[in-house]
This record gives sequence, structure tokens and C-alpha cells, in this order.
Amino acid sequence: MSVTRNTKNVPYYLLGFGAFAQLGGLVQARRKAVQGPALFFIDHFFHNTEHLGTLPAESDDSVFFVDVSREPAVEYVDALADKSREALAGRAPCCIVGIGGGATLDVAKAVGNLLTNPGKAEDYQGWELVKNPAPYKIGVPTLFGTGAECSRTCVLTNQRRKLKLGMNSDFTMYDQLLLDPALSRTVPREQFFFTGMDTYMHCFESVRGSYRNVIVDHLSESALSLCREIFLGPEDMMSEANLERMAVASYLGGMAAGNVGVVHPISAGLSIVLHLPHGKANCYALSVLEEIYPEEYAAFTAMLSRHSIDLPKGICEKLTEEQYEALYAGSIVHEKPLTNALGPAFRDILTKERLIAKFKSM
Ligand SMILES: [Fe+2]
Repeated sequence: MSVTRNTKNVPYYLLGFGAFAQLGGLVQARRKAVQGPALFFIDHFFHNTEHLGTLPAESDDSVFFVDVSREPAVEYVDALADKSREALAGRAPCCIVGIGGGATLDVAKAVGNLLTNPGKAEDYQGWELVKNPAPYKIGVPTLFGTGAECSRTCVLTNQRRKLKLGMNSDFTMYDQLLLDPALSRTVPREQFFFTGMDTYMHCFESVRGSYRNVIVDHLSESALSLCREIFLGPEDMMSEANLERMAVASYLGGMAAGNVGVVHPISAGLSIVLHLPHGKANCYALSVLEEIYPEEYAAFTAMLSRHSIDLPKGICEKLTEEQYEALYAGSIVHEKPLTNALGPAFRDILTKERLIAKFKSM
């Protein structure tokens, strides 16, 4: 096999039910290392709720509730970075703490990059554009499946450029993770399913692609087998054992998330035009890809019916020609994953007519 890319993993993690109680100790260690406030970015779902327990925030710290009702946009990240700079008043933060689902974790990563690099979020959408290391970041997922906790990207929508793309950089990654499956107990079942499916998609897209890395292959296979246990096994998908399996699968699968295939580009087009959340958009994408991924399509269909998850037809029925063009453009722009899945001639396989027909059949 050829030599892999020089690969970074998140250096520290704590995993287990009740791990959240250790957040205070982790933040305290950072206060000793750097004299500066902590910045907390928390999923707005946890606003005024008791689900989280005690937050180790001090009076000088800032707590931002992140609105994730839509996929995070570059302008939103710019505004949060401005507020963070204002709160810091020239000081460096001792740490950034992201608590929430993939969108919140990604927002915290993006703001981190902007605190040590000049300019706006969109300047860093791409590969290896971030030049300076971000402040120390602690990631606490409350919903598992996106792999955002351990990926080297933070996915942001950019309506002006009509694309959805992250800041792909080792500097985007978290320095410490706190993986507490108990935090996902309150997730609505449908959301648990769609987000968990994200791991399933990352991993089969990776093992079905041509950009291979033997370590990532093994991580993906492990995560896929955990997903089959969770979504096709005898236990309830949200049993305590499955909550833990999902936390592990998301973490393992997140390390494979850099090598996606056809599902994610089509999903990105759907999120740009219809503002569908990522996990659900992935499911719609796979629902029209039976000929490219026959085995995974069959397993996915079984998972949908096992959990009575409905994907109502007709979401792209009454769109304008301009919107179909935008769906195509927002998908085909993702050359790297499409080449990974279909080879350099992917445009001949996924022609404009064929892709638009797929959208119309959703
Ligand atoms: Fe994904």
C-alpha cells in the first residue's frame, strides 16, 4: 500500500456514562495553563434546561447559545467570532468548549480558527487554508453520528457562493473530547436515527471509494458493524448499550469522514437549496442511489422500516428550473468525493440530466 497522508487524531478523550461531570476539571486545568476566560458554545436546545447539569462557567467566561435550527452559515460564524473577540477584549481564551450536536461542535471549531486567523469564515472554506493554530478546544457531543467531534473540518453553508464546505485543517480539530452517551438520552428518536445514519454513510462511502487508507478501512468496518447492531439488532436503537455503541461508532466513523462518496455531495445540494438538515439529506440522497450502492441501499431500507422512519416523497417536486440547476451545481462541485466514488470521469456517469432526474424522484 502507498504511504498515508500524515494523519492527526484528537489527542485526548474521556468516554463513558457520567463523563460530563469531569468537564469542570478539564476546564480548570486550562485556566491554570492560560490566564484568560473560557468561551462556551452550547446548542440552543439546552437553553434553560436541566439536561446538562452544572456548567463550569465563571463570571468572566462567555456562554453563547448556538442556533442550530438551520445548518451553520459563514455569516453566523463571523458574527459569533465578533462577539467572542468583544468578550475577550484582547485576551486569549483559556479554552473553547463546544457542547451540542455536529452543527454546534462545528461552529465552535470555526470560531476557534477565526480567533487566531484574520478575515472571515468564507476565506477558510477549503483545504489547508488555516495558517495559525486555534485556541485549545474541548468538544462535548450531545448527539452522536456526525463525527464532528473528531473530524478535521467544520461544515458551513455559503449562500453567496452557493456551496457547503468546511475549513479542512488539522487546526480545526478538537484537543480534548468528552464523550458521555448519557447526554444523548433526550434526543428525539427520528433525530437519533438520521444523525446515526451519518456515521453509516461516512463509513460505507469510505470503504466503497478509491482513496483508501488501511487504518481508516478498519475504523470504518468497525463503525459499520456497530451501526448494524444498533439499527438492525434486537435491542431498541436507543437502549443504554446502543447509546454507548453510537458514541463509539460516531467517533470511529468521524476518522473516516474525510473520504466520502456520492451520498454527501447530493446531500450538500439538498441542504443548500432546501435547507434540509444533514442527516436527513443524506438519507434522501441514498434513497435514490440504489444502483451505485445496492447493498447499503438494501440495509438502509431495512433500517428505515425497522424504526418506522418515513421519508415522504416529493420534496423536489415543484421546484423551479433555477432551483434544479442549483441542486446540480451544489452537488457536482464536490469533485474530490465524486472522484473517490466514481473516478475522474464522474461527470459522464452523473450527468446533469441523470442527477436532476434523481432529485425529481425523491
Ligand atoms: Fe456527514
